[in-house]
Amino acid sequence: MIWINFKIYRETFGDGAVRLAEVCRRVAKKTGVPIVPVVSALDFWRVKEAVGGEIWMQHLDAYFEGAKTGWQSPLAAASLGVAGVILNHAEHQLPPGQIRQFLASSRRPAWQKKWQRQLGKRLAKNLEKLKVMVCFRTKGQARRWLGRLDPRPDWFAYEPWELIGGSVPVTKANAAAIRHIREILPKSVPLAVGAGIKTAADVRRARQLGAAGVVVSSAVIKAKDPERALFNLVKGWQ
Ligand code: G3P
Repeated sequence: MIWINFKIYRETFGDGAVRLAEVCRRVAKKTGVPIVPVVSALDFWRVKEAVGGEIWMQHLDAYFEGAKTGWQSPLAAASLGVAGVILNHAEHQLPPGQIRQFLASSRRPAWQKKWQRQLGKRLAKNLEKLKVMVCFRTKGQARRWLGRLDPRPDWFAYEPWELIGGSVPVTKANAAAIRHIREILPKSVPLAVGAGIKTAADVRRARQLGAAGVVVSSAVIKAKDPERALFNLVKGWQ
């Protein structure tokens, strides 16, 4: 599984987001590897309408509805068909309490019943299906938070902030940390890794280290030819 995080790179503004999501779809279709565009809230609807399929958001807040100006509601996202969300990306850190609140309010049966009663079955179901990836930027953070995240997210991701956007992949600089995090995480929750991943070899190495997915951004978004860059990268997953 490969996520392409659009971030707020200028290449993703406006029609750029649609073009890049189309690239993701085409390469996924040609290679058979699932590739998920992770878009900004401003582009979600446009990309969903134009390209369809599984699209994630880069962030949502733990405020679900009500008098909360400017926050990004998971319920509103679920109503639009957002398939998943990244929480606590190294570039968008959240207090652990907010992540716990997010997971509780979307996954605890008592909350699910409450949403169902108040907002109807369909929306409650969409919220229940919304996938959540929680990122760690260090192995210490992974260790500290692990026992406190209950209900569990669908994915964990490890992205050391200092390697993001750089030329040294996490798979080379922090291979031992990836192995360690994979060891301490519950087996039932898959791990994705990201930061500095640029080549098919980096992707292959991530797999060898126990990752079930990679999260990539600049290698594709900033490439002269994003389709070619993504196609080459995906070879490491086939
Ligand atoms: O979420 C993925 C991202 O932070 C990695 O960025 O540019 O190093 O691939 P990049």
